[in-house]
Amino acid sequence: MTNVKDAASFISEKLKGKQPTIGLVLGSGLGVLADEIQEATEIPYHEIPHFPQSTVAGHKGQLVIGTLAGKAVIAMQGRFHFYEGYTMEQVTFPIRVMKEIGVEKVVVTNAAGGINESFEPGDLMLIHDHINMMGTNPLIGPNNEELGPRFPDMSEAYSKQLLAHGEKCAEKLGLKLQKGVYVGNTGPSYETGAEIRMLRALGGDAVGMSTVPEVIVANHAGLKVLGISCISNMAAGILDQPLSHDEVIETTEKVKQNFLDFVKEIVKTLPET
Ligand code: 6GU
Repeated sequence: MTNVKDAASFISEKLKGKQPTIGLVLGSGLGVLADEIQEATEIPYHEIPHFPQSTVAGHKGQLVIGTLAGKAVIAMQGRFHFYEGYTMEQVTFPIRVMKEIGVEKVVVTNAAGGINESFEPGDLMLIHDHINMMGTNPLIGPNNEELGPRFPDMSEAYSKQLLAHGEKCAEKLGLKLQKGVYVGNTGPSYETGAEIRMLRALGGDAVGMSTVPEVIVANHAGLKVLGISCISNMAAGILDQPLSHDEVIETTEKVKQNFLDFVKEIVKTLPET
C-alpha cells in the first residue's frame, strides 16, 4: 500500500491540480488514443516509484494525463502483461495507483481474437463479462482492507450503466458494435483450434492475453469498468490461416479511427456519477 501511495503522490504532484476521474488502459496497437490527449503531461513508467517497466516493442510505456473530449483523463499508453513475466501484483499496480489518484471509472481496451463466428476482424466488441482462464488471480495473498474486500463481488464486473452508455455512443456514431464475453488466457502462445472450440463451448466470444487481472483489481478497488475489445483477427481454427502478431497490429491500424471516435464519444458523454 505504501508503494501505491508513493507512486500516486509522485504523479499527483505533477498534475498541478488536474484531477482525472477517468482512467484509460490502452491495449496493443491502441495507444494512439493517448496522442489525442490535450495539454498532456507525459510520465514515463521508469520515472514513477515502484512502477514496473515496459519490455514489449510497440508498447510505449508512459502515463499520459490531460484532457480528452473535454474530460480530465489519465491514460496508460502501454500496459503490463502477465506473459512478460510480471507478477499479477505488478500487472495490476497501475489500477491501484489510478484509484489512489482519484479515478472512479476505467475504460480498458485490448486487441482480441474472435471466437464467435459471427464476428469479423475489425469489429469492436463491448465486453459484457469475462472468463478468467489465467489459472491465477491477482488478489491471491493477504488482503489489504484499505484496497478492498477479501471476497469482492464480480456479478457486475462490467458496469451495466457503462455498458448502456457504450451502446448509446455506438448508436449515435452509427458504429457496428458487437457484444460478448472476453476470455483471458496467459499467452504468449495463441490457442490451438481445440482450445478455441472449448472456449466457445464455455461461452467465450473473444480471447486475449490481458484485461482480466486489471478488471478484477478494479472491481476490488470499487472502480466502475467499461471494456472494449478490438477484434484483430479470428482465433485459431476458424479461418484456414495462421495467426500472427503482425495481423493484430495491421487490423488495429485499420480500425483505429472507429476506435478513437468511439472512445472519445464515450469519454465526452460519460455520466459524472
Ligand atoms: Cl487469437 N488469442 C489470444 N490469446 N490473444 C489474442 C488473439 C488470440 N488475437 C489477438 N490477441
